[in-house]
Amino acid sequence: MTATDFIVARDDFETCKTITTELPATDTLPQDALLVQVDRFAFSANNITYAVLGGEMKYWQLFPAPHGFGNIPVWGFGEVIASKHPNVPVGERLFGYFPMATHLVIEATDVSKRTLRDGAMHRQRVAPVYNAYGRVSGDPAYTGRQGDYQALLRPLFMLSFLVDDFLAENDDFGARRVLLSSASSKTAFGLAHLLHARGRKVIGLTSSGNTGFVGSLGCYNEVVTYDRVTSLPSDAPVAFVDMAGNSALRAALHRHFGDQMKCSVRVGLTHRATEPEEGELPGARPRWFFAPDQIRKRANEWGPGGIEQRFGSAWSGFAPLLERCLSVVESRGPEAVRQVYLDTLKGRIPPEQGHMLSLLG
Ligand SMILES: NC(=O)c1ccc[n+]([C@@H]2O[C@H](COP(=O)([O-])OP(=O)(O)OC[C@H]3O[C@@H](n4cnc5c(N)ncnc54)[C@H](OP(=O)(O)O)[C@@H]3O)[C@@H](O)[C@H]2O)c1
Repeated sequence: MTATDFIVARDDFETCKTITTELPATDTLPQDALLVQVDRFAFSANNITYAVLGGEMKYWQLFPAPHGFGNIPVWGFGEVIASKHPNVPVGERLFGYFPMATHLVIEATDVSKRTLRDGAMHRQRVAPVYNAYGRVSGDPAYTGRQGDYQALLRPLFMLSFLVDDFLAENDDFGARRVLLSSASSKTAFGLAHLLHARGRKVIGLTSSGNTGFVGSLGCYNEVVTYDRVTSLPSDAPVAFVDMAGNSALRAALHRHFGDQMKCSVRVGLTHRATEPEEGELPGARPRWFFAPDQIRKRANEWGPGGIEQRFGSAWSGFAPLLERCLSVVESRGPEAVRQVYLDTLKGRIPPEQGHMLSLLG
């Protein structure tokens, strides 16, 4: 039996290919190892950002690829097809971080009723969340369309939830208006939903082709295209959460709002704009939001299960929006995966689409 991996050149993301390798026979798997067939996974701009930060954030180390290439991590589902772990049966369904591939060998450790962890040495230099797998067999929240929503949105909505929490605990730094760039992205509209629910005025910044979608979501009070951001009134405090990572846009906003820019949080890099960083900007200093710090802080303050319980209730309020605004598009096989990958890389995916992929034919 063979495995297929989809890999990209680390220094030129448009160069991509599939490679085939031999799968290990069950009797050659190490003690406690699982051979998992990767059934389906979500793909969005977030995965492109994993590639952009592959070296810096060590994402390339998770799923080794031939020299000069990387395998982009994705969130999705796999099924255990061979097991050397006494407590994990063949047929078990897992949700977590997978390579763009048909198979993955996991060195199962810390196996509990609901989770397990990959203890492989080469995976230990990233945040723990990337090595944890949910054991989701038979769980209706991870089945069918609900499962697709989990893969497409859950990891992104966790970030939306944490940024909203960070802003709320700081009284939004005195701002009552919050600007979100790449407002059409899933991470942004998750955050917009939470901000809107607690009465903030949410202003979505987006490209002209995406204004209709952003306006239709119902969680943005106002939608402004990138070329019109300086038409916004600048006489009251604002906070800015940056999903686009576009340095020219960031500089324009800081200059326009000046001291009224009370908070400027960097979250994403959808635009992958490469202009050199501007020097000192007026207003609050832009800073990266590091989710694991907020998780650690809240885990201490809220105690065991505190984050999960609050996140669960936020998710229940958010999930119905997905039925209305997101259409899941499924593609199977290497050529289809390549096409969706390149379309995502080039920003050609309409925001109302959520792509679920599989390299299995
Ligand atoms: N720091 C963290 O822990 C964390 C966690 C979750 C997500 N994020 C980041 O949040 C960002 C959004 O991710 P997502 O998966 O939610 O995105 P998504 O839903 O795939 O967003 C698609 C939108 O991004 C913009 N875009 C995408 N590709 C583009 C391109 N090549 N050129 C120009 N614009 C492009 C467009 O929005 P507009 O037209 O509206 O600009 C597009 O509608 C990513 O950078 C992701 O890494 C960070």
